[in-house]
Formats: sequence, C-alpha cells, structure tokens
Amino acid sequence: MAFKRTIAPVSSFYLILNVLAYATSAAPLSQAACDRTILVQAADTYVAAQTAGSLDPLKPVLATSWIYTENNKNISTNSSVLSKKLTIDHRRTNYDLVTCATYTEIVAASGPYVIGTQIRHDTNGKISSIDTISSTTGSWLFNATKTLEYVKAEDAGWKPLPVAAQSAREFIQAAGDAYLDMWNNAHAHEKVPWGTPCVRLEGSAYTGKGQANDSCQPGIPSNHNQAPNTRRRYVIDQEMGSVSIFCVWEHMMNAADSHEFRLENGKLRYVHTMTECGGRTCRL
Ligand SMILES: *[C@@H]1O[C@H](CO)[C@@H](O)[C@H](O)[C@H]1NC(C)=O
Ligand SMILES: *[C@@H]1O[C@H](CO)[C@@H](O)[C@H](O)[C@H]1NC(C)=O
Ligand SMILES: *[C@@H]1O[C@H](CO)[C@@H](O)[C@H](O)[C@H]1NC(C)=O
Ligand SMILES: *[C@@H]1O[C@H](CO)[C@@H](O)[C@H](O)[C@H]1NC(C)=O
Repeated sequence: MAFKRTIAPVSSFYLILNVLAYATSAAPLSQAACDRTILVQAADTYVAAQTAGSLDPLKPVLATSWIYTENNKNISTNSSVLSKKLTIDHRRTNYDLVTCATYTEIVAASGPYVIGTQIRHDTNGKISSIDTISSTTGSWLFNATKTLEYVKAEDAGWKPLPVAAQSAREFIQAAGDAYLDMWNNAHAHEKVPWGTPCVRLEGSAYTGKGQANDSCQPGIPSNHNQAPNTRRRYVIDQEMGSVSIFCVWEHMMNAADSHEFRLENGKLRYVHTMTECGGRTCRL
C-alpha cells in the first residue's frame, strides 16, 4: 500500500507531462520522466529473447495487455520472428527518454534477418508494445551478410554526440519527416538538412564511397506524385542524433518500412532502411 501511494502521483505527473508534450510539441520534458536503466534492461532482454527464440526471458517485463506487431500487422508471437533462434552479429539500441521507448537494430547474417524493433513502455516501466520490422530474403535489396559488413564498418561513427553537436528532438524528427515526405511532396527535399559526407544503407545497398564528399542526394525520389509514407511511429534519441521511423511505404506494395536517420551538428549523416513486402518479393 505504501508503495502504491508513493508511485501514483509520479505516474500521473508523467502522464500529464506526456499529454502536454503531445498536445503542444513543447520543449523537451525532464529526462527524469523515464528511467534509462529500465529501457536498457528491457532492450537487452529483448535481444536475449530473440537469441533464444523464446518469449520467456521477456515475460517478467511485459505489461498484462501488451501488443506485438510485426511488419505492420498484429500477430501472435508464436508465428513471429521472435520465436526463431537467431545468432545475432550486430545490435545497436537507441533510447527515447521522453516517450519511454527504444529502437534496436539487429543483423543476423545466418538467419538471414535484418530487424528493427521499437519497444514502448507504460508508466510502470513495463513493455506495452513490441513493434518489429523484420526483413529477410525477398525484402528490398536484401542481403544480410552485406548489410552486416557495412554496418560494422560504419559502427564507430554511431557514438553518442557531444552536447554541442546535438539537435532538438523536434528538429531531428522534422528532418526524418521531410525525408519521408519526398515521395509525395516536391518541396520536401528543401527541408532535409543534407550533410556532407552523408551515406545511405538501404537494405544491403550502400551509397557511401568513403569520400569526404559522399552525398545522400543521388537517387532520392524525383517523382513526387507517389503515394505517401503513412502510419509513422517514432523513436527519437537526442544524444545519438537519431530518429527511427516505422511506416507504410505505400508506393512499394504497401510495404512495412523502417527508416533510421542520424544527424550530426544539425546535418544528416547516416540513413539506414529496411523494407518487407508482406512475404512477397519487393518490387517497385
Ligand atoms: C493492433 O492492435 C492495437 C490494439 O488493439 C490497435 O490499436 C492497432 O490498430 C492494431 N494494429 C493493426 C495494424 O491492426
Ligand atoms: C502460443 O504458444 C503457447 C505455448 O505453446 C500457447 O500456450 C498459446 O496458446 C499460443 N498462442 C496462440 C495465440 O496461438
Ligand atoms: C550477399 O553478399 C555477400 C557479401 O558481399 C556475397 O558474397 C553474396 O554472394 C551475396 N548473396 C547473394 C544471394 O547475393
Ligand atoms: C568527390 O571527391 C572525389 C575525390 O576527391 C572526386 O574524385 C569526385 O569527383 C568528387 N565527387 C563529386 C560529386 O564532387
């Protein structure tokens, strides 16, 4: 009882703060709103569950009515990628301390799988949803071995940023949104804070040549009359300069799509994407 009395006001306060943040897109909340340790433990446990191919390690940290979504569909975990034992070759997690969420990128070359997972937490720190984009053979530009090579070569560049190189979370999200708007908005590219160098890893296709003038602009949509990228879900890590956006890539067979962007000094530096087409081979 004493425990409950102590915890209730904290939860309500958290809720009110979040409601305010969503309603006004106001300045960042106090990071005390969310316990980083809980997010780290949950993400680590998720990776352990994926390694084991079993939900069991996660059970203690799941909320009673949690939701599992895979490739934009609510499915039973019994038939999910989580039920497959995977040898994980690469894993990186970004932390959103405002919305209490994480984004984890996983590459399992022998799976073969390249997976992006957004995990959301409730006000008690329990996992309220696991939202996964799981790409495999047939997915857009898929080759997990090749993706792994690029991801490993790039990994040293994905370090927490010094405060002076960080951007406001609203700015990071706007950069990602502008990028995803390029499909259906001829002016969206003007709002993307393009950096130099900048490299894109799309499935296993890499635009970088390791040169100082590497640019992310060649190959961006030139036909802006395509269907929009919809149902966007965000995880923003200000210290990493990153935003993970899951969406429906309507122009690509209504694919389940993950885009992750990293900004350094307010400029776009890295883009990672994975795209799965409902079990069919992706074709534009
Ligand atoms: C999944 O279930 C949740 C909760 O019932 C619901 O809000 C959401 O719209 C569902 N998503 C899909 C893709 O059906
Ligand atoms: C999933 O598998 C577990 C364990 O075998 C079983 O108890 C449960 O009913 C299954 N759930 C669904 C939705 O099939
Ligand atoms: C995937 O990439 C690896 C490494 O570049 C290459 O050896 C392999 O042949 C590729 N696999 C397919 C199916 O293209
Ligand atoms: C980028 O730099 C390389 C090496 O200096 C040069 O060969 C190349 O022409 C440059 N590319 C562009 C688009 O400026």
